[in-house]
Amino acid sequence: MVNLDQARERLARARSVAVLTGAGISAESGIPTFRGAGGLWNNFRAEDLATPEAFARDPRLVWEWYNWRRELIAKAAPNPAHHALVRLETAKPHFTLITQNIDGLHDLAGSGKMLKLHGDIWRLRCTECGAQWPDRRTPLPKLPPHCGCGGLARPGVVWFGEALPDGMMKEAEHAAESAEVFLVIGTSAVVYPAAGLVPFAKQSGAIVIEINTETTSFSPIVDFSFQSPAGELLPKLL
Ligand code: OAD
Repeated sequence: MVNLDQARERLARARSVAVLTGAGISAESGIPTFRGAGGLWNNFRAEDLATPEAFARDPRLVWEWYNWRRELIAKAAPNPAHHALVRLETAKPHFTLITQNIDGLHDLAGSGKMLKLHGDIWRLRCTECGAQWPDRRTPLPKLPPHCGCGGLARPGVVWFGEALPDGMMKEAEHAAESAEVFLVIGTSAVVYPAAGLVPFAKQSGAIVIEINTETTSFSPIVDFSFQSPAGELLPKLL
């Protein structure tokens, strides 16, 4: 594969690398994606489960869904794609992992600092006092969970219509802007502002390499587009 050799060479030469991951990188670990075959949004409505309005209307229903997803994710382990990113991080002087995933598999694989644009399903946040804490129990003993102050707790994730964690998008943009190589792995790249990082990296001069089992709307503008499962392709790229 000439293309693969070329991409591998570009990646090997780069001293600064940024990576954007989406649900597809965890698909081979057995976690369903949101869109495409078997995607969560084929069977569930985001408006009912992943918005502040849905939570205000029925916190128990929203928590049941997140509790179910926590149980599913708890059974999953990082796959070769997550592990490959840890090796890449070690090899590069400048490396930023930007993820839209809330599943914590990058943490389990051993990735260091990362920008979790959409939060973390293993953290809870109090809707009253704002306290945040980790909680890995599955199932949660009582739904909906509460904070020590008595306030209702919510999943520590970003819902549709909510802002990303303070300052995080700026950091992600800085990484995309200064990257020599920008890897886009397993994301349909339709949810903004995260998706905007792909054309932004390209315009800023990065070589953009996409790994996805399907083509996306950005496939035509990237430098290399590989239609392969990330767990198979990414280790070959390193
Ligand atoms: P999506 O479910 O939208 O897209 C997953 C992508 O992964 C698709 O383009 C698939 O083709 C691809 N894919 C599937 N299996 C793969 C594999 N083994 N290797 C490589 N690629 C594979 O997930 P995201 O793009 O992450 O946000 O979705 C973005 C956001 O939309 C999520 O963070 C979530 C969701 O609604 C919130 O909940 C706020």
